[in-house]
Amino acid sequence: MASTKPLHLAVVGFGRIGQACAELIALSHDIAVEAFVRRPASGAEGLPDHLRHIPLMTHAGQLSAVDGALICVPTSAVKETASQILQHGIPIVDCAILHGESFHAHKEAIHKLALHYRTPAIVGAGWDPGGLSVFRSWLALLTPGGVTETTHRPGITLRHTVMAKSVVGVKDARCTEIRTADGRLQRYVYVELEQGANPDRVAEAIRADPLFLGEETQVFPVESLSSLEEAGRGVVLDRRGPPGRLGHHHFLIEARFDESVLTAQVMLAAARALPDLDPGAYSLWDIPLSALWGERADKAEREWL
Ligand SMILES: NC(=O)c1ccc[n+]([C@@H]2O[C@H](COP(=O)([O-])OP(=O)(O)OC[C@H]3O[C@@H](n4cnc5c(N)ncnc54)[C@H](OP(=O)(O)O)[C@@H]3O)[C@@H](O)[C@H]2O)c1
Repeated sequence: MASTKPLHLAVVGFGRIGQACAELIALSHDIAVEAFVRRPASGAEGLPDHLRHIPLMTHAGQLSAVDGALICVPTSAVKETASQILQHGIPIVDCAILHGESFHAHKEAIHKLALHYRTPAIVGAGWDPGGLSVFRSWLALLTPGGVTETTHRPGITLRHTVMAKSVVGVKDARCTEIRTADGRLQRYVYVELEQGANPDRVAEAIRADPLFLGEETQVFPVESLSSLEEAGRGVVLDRRGPPGRLGHHHFLIEARFDESVLTAQVMLAAARALPDLDPGAYSLWDIPLSALWGERADKAEREWL
């Protein structure tokens, strides 16, 4: 049965994934960030105001009284960091990007440490490896002998827009067209603003241009267009069952997403499963789906089964 006590977690490393974990936890009702662990040189740099009250540590050994640690450091540092945390009897979740044999070797190494320190650990709990691996595995289970094609691609294609870029106060701009669920075409214009520029005036000027008149145009100021282009990712998963007299089975999943946010979602789901695990290392498909739902398991079963 899933635990109903709130989980107190440490976030180790405050890069893209660490930040996404902290933001999602701030929105959750069943998890709290108890501490951040950052390299001494990083200090409180980049921590937004609403997270500055959370204790900041410079070494995993300083952690105590947490239910688990989300390891969000570069892949090359994950094993060492995991070892430092497990030796204090603190369960961990990692999402290191390792596949195939490298993933297997990593899981084995963490398993030995986790058994030694009598603590559970969940490895590869991100998007890929992680959620996407589970989708792929399920499709293969449903269609033995079939073929899977996985195509990674950018989430949205952003075009340069000379017109928006020429508006006073705009440093750079990109646009894209998106069709709404009811079939209407909307134009999204993303703008990087000059310092001190007024976003409302910029939006007004763009919408008033003959090029955009008559179309529903949304203008979004962003900090960095290049990170927007990087964050938006997509994948097409195409699985075809083998031809034969048992019917033709074809699955097509198309997804667009922010990879850091999806990875953080999976890490939080994995963390919810920690309290009920025995010592040892687990991957996502060693863990029952109900455990990943935490306190919402019963409701999710009614809704999805
Ligand atoms: N499974 C997936 O789908 C998936 C997707 C993306 C990323 N990942 C994994 O997520 C982890 C973090 O990725 P990220 O994109 O967040 O990376 P990132 O933006 O580079 O952030 C990593 C953070 O770790 C800390 N750090 C840097 N060098 C370190 C070192 N040598 N030792 C200890 N800490 C160090 C820094 O935080 P401080 O300044 O706060 O110390 C840094 O901001 C990686 O293991 C990556 O493989 C998984």
